[in-house]
Amino acid sequence: MEISDLNPHLLTAEYAVRGPIVIRAQELEKLGRKIIYCNVGNPQALKQKPLTYIRQILSLVEYPDLLNFHETQKIYPPDVIRKARHILKMNPHGTGAYTQSAGMPFIRETIAEFIMKRDGIEASPENIILTDGASKAVQAVLIALMKSPNDGFMIPVPQYPLYSATIELYGAKQIKYFLDEDNSWQLSEKILEESISKAKSEGINPVSIVVINPGNPTGAVLSYENIEMIINFASKHGLSIMADEVYQDNIYAEGKTFHSFAKVMTHMGIKDIPLFSFHSVSKGYTGECGHRGGYLEIRNVPDEVMAEFIKLQSINLCANTVGQIITYLLVTPPQVGEESYELFIKERDYILGEMKAKAEIIGLGLSSIDGMEVEIPHGAMYAFVRFELPHTEDITKMTESERLTYDAKRDNDYCMSLLEETGICVVPGSGFGQLPGTLHFRTTILPPRNEVEELVEKIREFHKSYTAKLKSNSYRTV
Ligand SMILES: Cc1ncc(COP(=O)(O)O)c(C=O)c1O
Repeated sequence: MEISDLNPHLLTAEYAVRGPIVIRAQELEKLGRKIIYCNVGNPQALKQKPLTYIRQILSLVEYPDLLNFHETQKIYPPDVIRKARHILKMNPHGTGAYTQSAGMPFIRETIAEFIMKRDGIEASPENIILTDGASKAVQAVLIALMKSPNDGFMIPVPQYPLYSATIELYGAKQIKYFLDEDNSWQLSEKILEESISKAKSEGINPVSIVVINPGNPTGAVLSYENIEMIINFASKHGLSIMADEVYQDNIYAEGKTFHSFAKVMTHMGIKDIPLFSFHSVSKGYTGECGHRGGYLEIRNVPDEVMAEFIKLQSINLCANTVGQIITYLLVTPPQVGEESYELFIKERDYILGEMKAKAEIIGLGLSSIDGMEVEIPHGAMYAFVRFELPHTEDITKMTESERLTYDAKRDNDYCMSLLEETGICVVPGSGFGQLPGTLHFRTTILPPRNEVEELVEKIREFHKSYTAKLKSNSYRTV
C-alpha cells in the first residue's frame, strides 16, 4: 500500500499538538535528554496526582470482590464503599459489559441534576449522551451536522486543532474567525460578521459556530455579555452552537466566572437555537485524560433529532464504562459530612491552587522577556504567548498566504530550536492559527512549579540568544 491509497482528507488533516516537534522530543528523550513536555494538556503525565476518591471507587467497581474483604472496610472510607456499592447496584453487569448506547441511565440522570444545580435551569437526562471524552462528542456532532462538502463550521483562530482536523477529515469547510487578542481573546461581533459574510460570498453554507470557553489555547474566560452577543449572532444567522466547556472548572482570574451557554441561552428565553455542550473528565482538577470520559448535552432539538444522535452513538455501541463512571464521580463529588470530603477538598484545592500559581509565574515571567507578550491566563491550562523575531526575508512583497507560510516556518523553527537547546516542548502558534504577521507559541501551565520556574528562565535566555543569532544573519530587519 502507498500513501496515495489513503483517504486524501486524512493526509491534509493536521494535529499540531502531537506533530513533528513532539516526535523529536520523544527521540531526544530516548537519547537521555530531560524534556519538559508543555505541548499537551495531559495533567497526570506531568505529575498531577489522581484524586484519591476517584481511584478508590474505581478500584472497587473494577474488582468488586474487594468489598468482601475485612481489610477493605479499614482502608476505604465508608462513603467510598457506599458509592461503589451504589454504582454496582445501578450497573449490575459490571464494567466489562456494554451499557445502553447513550450511557448508564442513572449517570445521565445525575448529569442532568448537576446541570440544574450548576446553572439553576431545567435539564433532561434524555438529552445527555455519555462519550469517550469530549473529542468523540465533538466529532459526532460535526459528522451529524455535515450535509454537504459546502457546509461550513465557524471555528476560532487560534483554536484547539480537534476542530480543524475533524472538519478536514470529513471534508467540510472551516470558517475561521479571529479572537481578539487585544481584548483578552474575547469574540468580536464585527469579526464574526466579516468572517461569515466572506464565507457566504465564497458559496459556503454556514451551519454552526464553535466556541471554546474557557479557551484553548488562549486561556480566555468569556464574559456573560460576550456569550449573549454570540447567541444573538447565531440566532441572526440560523446557526447552531457547539459550546466546548471542558475547562469550566479551570478559572483563576479574580472576578471571572464560568457561564455556560445553556444558562445564558435560557436566561435570554431562547428555545430555537440548537445547542451542543461538551464536558470532560480530562481537565478541571480530575485530569483523567487517559480514561476517556465526558458527555454531550443537546438542547432545543426535537425528539426525533435527539434519537438520531443516540443512533449515531450506538454505532460505537457505547462509551467505555470506566469513563462513564468517572463522569458520574465528576458530577457527584463527596458532600460535607461524608468521610472523603476533607481529603477530596484538600486535593482539589491543591491542584487548582497550583494551576493558578503557575499561570501567574508563566504570565508574569514570559511577559517580562523583551519581545514577548502574554496576559496571565484567566483560565484553562495554557498560555498563548506572542513573540517577535527579526525578519530573515523581505516581507514587503509577500501575499497574505506567503506571509502565513513564512511565519509558520519561523514559529516552527523557533519551537524546534527551543526544544533542541533547552528540552522545552511547546507547540508553534501556526498549529492553532494566528493573525497573519503575528507569531506565538502555546505552552501548558501543567509541569510542577519548580519546572515552570525553570522553563521561564530557560526561555528568557533562549529568546535572547535566538534573536541575536537571527539579527546577525538577517536578510534585512524590517
Ligand atoms: C478545548 C478542548 N476540547 C476538547 C478536548 C478533548 O478532551 P477529551 O480528552 O475529553 O477528549 C481538549 C483537550 O485538550 C480541549 O482542549
